[in-house]
Amino acid sequence: MSIRTVGVVGTGVIGASWTGLFLAHGLKVIVSDPAPGAERGLADYLHSIWPTLERQKISPHASLTNYRFVGANFKDHFANVDFVQENAPERLELKTKLFAELDAATRPDVVIASSSSGIPSSRFISECAINPARVLIGHPFNPPHLMPLVEVVPHPKTAASITEAAKSFYKSVGRNPVHIREELPGFAANRLQVALLNEAYSLVSRGIISAEDLDTCVTNSLGPRWAATGPLLSNAMGGGGGTDGLKHALEHLGPASRSWLEDMKAHAFTWTPKELDALSASVSEELRGKDTKDLERQRDDLLVEILSLKK
Ligand SMILES: NC(=O)c1ccc[n+]([C@@H]2O[C@H](COP(=O)([O-])OP(=O)(O)OC[C@H]3O[C@@H](n4cnc5c(N)ncnc54)[C@H](O)[C@@H]3O)[C@@H](O)[C@H]2O)c1
Repeated sequence: MSIRTVGVVGTGVIGASWTGLFLAHGLKVIVSDPAPGAERGLADYLHSIWPTLERQKISPHASLTNYRFVGANFKDHFANVDFVQENAPERLELKTKLFAELDAATRPDVVIASSSSGIPSSRFISECAINPARVLIGHPFNPPHLMPLVEVVPHPKTAASITEAAKSFYKSVGRNPVHIREELPGFAANRLQVALLNEAYSLVSRGIISAEDLDTCVTNSLGPRWAATGPLLSNAMGGGGGTDGLKHALEHLGPASRSWLEDMKAHAFTWTPKELDALSASVSEELRGKDTKDLERQRDDLLVEILSLKK
């Protein structure tokens, strides 16, 4: 089924960004958020990101105004949406009630995707009386209008056709969906991120490297290389490539890296106030004299360049 109209629920950090992406791809968006001031906040945010979206290859039908804000009342407006992206706060009771209402307000074949970063959808479908098999997670990376990854995580009873429909919709709006086959905390990308961050916290809080140098390590080595080939392909190429490349790399460097892992476990960051203070002081030093808004702009400009080069 072709998707022309998307329902977006919640217009905070993530919902507003999704709305911009959908508008840029020529879709109509029905937007719901109960908060006073949400309509104004959304309009301001969309204006602020539109120039960045225009620099990407967006649809000839893209329109900054092709949306309708309906406040809390999506029930009267979602009968004709073709896809729902939910972005309400990360609270189980709230999502359980909301999904029951979304299930009742939409056509039964419509995919209802939650942006949730941490709650598996099997936990909030218990009150969906119509068709819980069309619910899944469509977890973006912030901000979704720039970052291509969407982790599509079905619950055990999500229909396979719904998973496929969600993946194909995300592809149609220029995203790169991956299928996480089992519900697990943190899905895949955030688990990878946490593994690296924990070691970064440890190294900086122990004073082994400054926050600035730590960031330089990543932006000048792992970051660009992984942006090109990802960690596993990079690993295989480091072992000479070909079908035995990864095996060779593991046999060659594996024993040493396993001993590093033991050392990392022995010195893991333990979140004590002393460690947090040391970490935070080094990051503050890195931020000294820099304006966060400028940094955000520079980051977004660079991301647009990198991602368009990758295409
Ligand atoms: N912030 C991130 O980096 C990030 C990244 C990926 C996924 N997520 C997920 O996206 C979802 C939204 O997170 P966020 O960071 O945008 O939160 P946020 O607090 O910025 O926005 C939540 C919005 O939901 C609205 N809201 C409150 N009650 C509501 C209701 N009953 N129905 C509809 N909307 C309601 C609020 O007014 C607010 O505008 C969460 O599930 C979160 O886990 C967040």
